[in-house]
Amino acid sequence: MVTSSAPGKVYLFGEHAVVYGEPAVPCAIERRARVTVEAQDNGIRVHAGDLTLDGFTVEYDGTSGRPDVDVSDDLVDAGMGYINEAVAQAQDAAGVEDVGFDISIESEIPLGAGLGSSAAVAVATIDAAARELGVELTPVEIADRAYHVEHTVQDGEASRADTFCSAMGGAVRVEGDDCRTIDAPDLPFVIGYDGGAGDTGALVAGVRRLREDYGFAADTVSAIGDIVRRGEEALVDDDIEELGRLMNFNHGLLEALGVSSRSLDAMVWAARDAGALGAKLTGAGGGGCIVALDETPETTTALEYTPGCEQAFRAELDSQGVRVEEQ
Ligand code: MEV
Repeated sequence: MVTSSAPGKVYLFGEHAVVYGEPAVPCAIERRARVTVEAQDNGIRVHAGDLTLDGFTVEYDGTSGRPDVDVSDDLVDAGMGYINEAVAQAQDAAGVEDVGFDISIESEIPLGAGLGSSAAVAVATIDAAARELGVELTPVEIADRAYHVEHTVQDGEASRADTFCSAMGGAVRVEGDDCRTIDAPDLPFVIGYDGGAGDTGALVAGVRRLREDYGFAADTVSAIGDIVRRGEEALVDDDIEELGRLMNFNHGLLEALGVSSRSLDAMVWAARDAGALGAKLTGAGGGGCIVALDETPETTTALEYTPGCEQAFRAELDSQGVRVEEQ
């Protein structure tokens, strides 16, 4: 039996645009998915607790029917898709077929909320399942295999950003296939969560359509790339105020691309009104989380009183990526 864990992430800049070859800078945060794997004769049995902050449990053998859980079918299908594909990647790495697994997932990362839950689950599952089959993969190998998991489950609409960040930890820069870790100062992240989730595949497809239909939407995507490049300079200079301004700009462009929502915008404005240096949605959007920069407790308090915000919490940058917890 092996337990591995991997962190979730926030996007400082660049989600969506990264799908079209622009750079993005996601940062791992100290909220983890922990996956315990035990080989068995056949079938995949999954027990999942706390995949949302409310928590739910899945008992599912991977073949028959739908698990009895209180979340949308799409989210369950996507969640099970990530696990099945991650197991297939581990089997491929070990050169074996037809090994079954008993898998338990505990996650502090809400599902589909822009904090990289699916990437963290895929990364931790590949690491644990490969180790259980006697193979130790490097974080870079795990990132690559986890990317293929997301690519398959999201119908080809995925970048390497979430999976590379979760496997490596810290702040990373991803531009197409060029993935690297970068230095970042300790950033005072505050997260607001509306209790909802977005459908990443549908949101990415929506941006793709806009980009094809309107030249100015394509320009908007390129402008996000320009923001990221400026943001990288601000990171090097430790200029947190400039980072905040650029995050505000990035949110405006994501809003223009149709991936924000009323509750995300309300949380972004609550954070700004409370004095945050900047605030933006994080991840695919449509619902879920915003990330703000504020050293003081003001933004967290303001978010706690914002209608539509279910949880507000501070998040620390997690310098560790995937790691084995028990073997
Ligand atoms: C989702 O967390 C981030 C997106 O940019 C999609 C991706 O990069 O795969 C929207």
